[in-house]
Amino acid sequence: MSALRTALRPAARAVGRRTISSSSARRSDNLMVHRDSAHNNPSTPFEFNADSKKQIEKIVARYPVQYKKAAVMPVLDVAQRQNGGWVSLTAMNAVAKLLDMNPMRVYEVASFYTMYNREPVAPNFVQLCTTTPCMLGGCGSNKILEAITNHLGITPGHSTKDGKFTFIEVECLGACSNAPMMQIGDEFYEDLTPETTVKILDALAKGEKPKPGPQSGRHTSENSAGLTTLLEKPYGPGEHCLPEFQ
Ligand code: FES
Repeated sequence: MSALRTALRPAARAVGRRTISSSSARRSDNLMVHRDSAHNNPSTPFEFNADSKKQIEKIVARYPVQYKKAAVMPVLDVAQRQNGGWVSLTAMNAVAKLLDMNPMRVYEVASFYTMYNREPVAPNFVQLCTTTPCMLGGCGSNKILEAITNHLGITPGHSTKDGKFTFIEVECLGACSNAPMMQIGDEFYEDLTPETTVKILDALAKGEKPKPGPQSGRHTSENSAGLTTLLEKPYGPGEHCLPEFQ
């Protein structure tokens, strides 16, 4: 078929018509398709451990018995955490079995939501937000991307050779007022500069736990220039009466 398309292309061009595109969408192909590999195939060992089973029991109890498949997302999360940050084919099958679901339904969920990793990731899973507010806020996420790339020696979508870091770009993580920001594991690191980013990566490489949250000295997302409103003591009942009523 592709040979036929190639053969037809010059003729189509000659009459000014577009040919059918035969290029494969590699990214979505990676996201949606499972191909057996040495580390991820129907025989890859996976079984929920006692701790996970306990967590799952509590999760499933939140839903009516006939709707226990509604627990698929938190249960997949338990599977991913137990499995070192990713869900193998067999982990998804275990979720399907536990929730009486068709495995395909679980694959659909795991391949739709990007928080599920279907390939192994390093213990420090760096997700840098490069959506518009993070690109424009503070020094801008482009500089952070450059700092991470230079410091770790990898581009997005790759892991370091020592197996300590995996780095990807992600869309908005909901902390836009503290842009630019990145998530590593479960923690948010915000108000980043290239220097603070490198400091965080260095600390993690040494096995330390850097302080999460804003790296600028802000407490949360308050105005970094100080308060501009609500400067007076808030009035309460009886404290804010019109003069004629005093
Ligand atoms: S745009 Fe980066 S957290 Fe929202």
